[in-house]
Amino acid sequence: MCGIVGYVGPSSQLADERGTAAGHDALDVLVEGLRRLEYRGYDSAGVAVISDGTVGFRKKAGKLLNLEQELGEHPLPRSTTGIGHTRWATHGGPSDLNAHPHVVDGGRLAVIHNGIIENFAEIKRELVEKGHEFLSETDTEVAAVLLADTYNDLGDQDLTAAMQVACRRLEGAFTLLAVHVDHPGRVVAARRNSPLVLGLGEGENFLGSDVSGFIDYTRSAVELGQDQVVSITADAYEITDFHGNPAEGKPFEVLWDAAAAEKGGFPSFMEKEINEQPMAVEQTLMGRTDPDGNLVLDELKIDESVLRSVDKIVVVACGTAAYAGQVARYAIEHWCRIPTEVELAHEFRYRDPIVNERTLVVALSQSGETMDTLMAVRHAQEQGAKVVAICNTNGSTIPREADAALYTHAGPEIAVASTKAFLAQITAAYLLGLYLAQLRGNKYKDEIAGILAELETMPAKIQQVIDAQGAVKDLAQSMKDAASVLFLGRHVGFPVALEGALKLKEIAYIHAEGFAAGELKHGPIALIEEGQPVFVIVPSPRGRDSLHAKVVSNIQEIRARGAVTIVIAEEGDESVADYANHVFRVPQSPTLLQPLLTTVPLQIFACELATAKGYDVDQPRNLAKSVTVE
Ligand code: F6R
Repeated sequence: MCGIVGYVGPSSQLADERGTAAGHDALDVLVEGLRRLEYRGYDSAGVAVISDGTVGFRKKAGKLLNLEQELGEHPLPRSTTGIGHTRWATHGGPSDLNAHPHVVDGGRLAVIHNGIIENFAEIKRELVEKGHEFLSETDTEVAAVLLADTYNDLGDQDLTAAMQVACRRLEGAFTLLAVHVDHPGRVVAARRNSPLVLGLGEGENFLGSDVSGFIDYTRSAVELGQDQVVSITADAYEITDFHGNPAEGKPFEVLWDAAAAEKGGFPSFMEKEINEQPMAVEQTLMGRTDPDGNLVLDELKIDESVLRSVDKIVVVACGTAAYAGQVARYAIEHWCRIPTEVELAHEFRYRDPIVNERTLVVALSQSGETMDTLMAVRHAQEQGAKVVAICNTNGSTIPREADAALYTHAGPEIAVASTKAFLAQITAAYLLGLYLAQLRGNKYKDEIAGILAELETMPAKIQQVIDAQGAVKDLAQSMKDAASVLFLGRHVGFPVALEGALKLKEIAYIHAEGFAAGELKHGPIALIEEGQPVFVIVPSPRGRDSLHAKVVSNIQEIRARGAVTIVIAEEGDESVADYANHVFRVPQSPTLLQPLLTTVPLQIFACELATAKGYDVDQPRNLAKSVTVE
């Protein structure tokens, strides 16, 4: 998830002809837009402007501040046309070289990109065969060289047509913006499965990943549709599909202020990130299969013979990431038949764990900087274990030190309480489990394809749960004075219960506990008294009926003792209705994948309840996003 901004203002000649003031300096618009979009990514930033028949560009690893310093030391000329990018690395770590824009074709064309181009390796091979050279490890440079190659092959100096043709070759998710020395007053852009909005000013036009990229200049916007190309000049824009047919965007007026615009109109980053979960899961799944339907995890650079000889997996992580690890254990053990342990990273090394060359340690971390997890990684490596990091932050310490990294593509998570990263971590861990099962022959190809097909349906199902959030929010509002809330689950529902309780503790400051439902009768049932709210995560009745029946009995037991039961159950599961004070439905899915759905109402509940209590859900007291001390 990167931030993208584009600008075309009037040339001084055009301004003179109209008798209007000159437009802005493109660089000012771009840097201001990037500042507002920095929440979308801050690994590196870059700008390109067209001036005097050349592309001038600057790019720098790190936050926008580094780019601004670079621009201070090495200024770019005043310009009416430019593009800017703030990056959240996917292909290729965060470095000056991998930063955007990618300037190709002897410095004539500059391109920026948001998204993941799934077939970049295949296109790169073809372009290398044609004699093109590449400087970076990014999929973006492949798109840029493809665009330049197409432009030159077409030979009619039509950048828009070249963009249409090039986009027809690309698979995956992308927003692309391009400027070319042949077209000093034009930015050409395209989108598929990745956001792009057009801003309409007075004699100047803008492009942005979202309206916050240009909200200081105009509130009049046009949302681009799927598979559309847009070409903007200072006083016009033209939208087509990828085949050059005229197309239309959706005009709208921006009603938010600048601060709300960064949050996409949501009141908090947490709520925005909850709503981004379908995208987080979809992007984490993207580009993981080859044309024969085999699962490929390119980043997993550990020798296959080592992965085949693994006889134990240990997942190390903290907090929410550790609960993702607990979900992963059920799936990995079931699919791969490899004994799997999950351990809080800070406990792991002090217990003198038994790990060796045949142990695969999986370190789960959104930030990639959690010191406890990093120390566990180092300890495991000292004992000879190989470490795979599942991480959301490209180039952070844990994936750099690990033997291999599998990145989640949730985009930056700003709210301290983790939501979309949790679902993305679970998704990536499923992919790892399926990959090991494929490699070691534990599952047949069609079985793996079947599970992958189920996984691909999950983003739409998560969206369904989000769409039904009104009822969850109403309940949260009505429970804002609750003193304590309990959460019960079995099997994969158990870590979901723990996560539901953690969310409530950390942002609503309410006492909350998650229990394995089977543990009730061994103690926690003593907590149940009249009016005690208890969430129960009910497994699917299809396939694992004994598990389901046990949880239904647990609901009866607590209901009989006065609990207010709030049940999360699959659509069509009527067996819970008689014992539930409230039921929230999730779409049907295989049991092992259910946490991607059942977690969502618990996140919404915690967020709404904390908001109702007047708390800042993005920055809860005493907590930090990245815990870099032990
Ligand atoms: C809870 C939360 C924390 C983190 C934990 C690990 O909402 O965000 O429990 O999950 O501090 O952080 P990462 O994943 O960055 O290692």
